[in-house]
Amino acid sequence: MRLTIDGAETVALAGDTVLTAVLSQVRGLGPSDFGLRPRAGSCLMGACQDCWVWTAAGERLRACTSYVAPGMDIRTGQPERTWPIRA
Ligand code: FES
Repeated sequence: MRLTIDGAETVALAGDTVLTAVLSQVRGLGPSDFGLRPRAGSCLMGACQDCWVWTAAGERLRACTSYVAPGMDIRTGQPERTWPIRA
């Protein structure tokens, strides 16, 4: 199936995790709250929280426990944060 990772169109197999698709296409996951990069995740079983990726719509996904879907648009770097401004 076709999907996009960091703006580049690519293909993945049905049943691939998002992490598998990302690591087969790019060097690693982007910057995170941990400030470490590039990263490849740590536990690969949903426990360590070191594999967050984001959809183009801003939804955060745990890459090692999320499966690819046709047309996914994944960002490996954390989007710039926007905080509400209090008046
Ligand atoms: S690699 Fe640990 S939660 Fe995904």
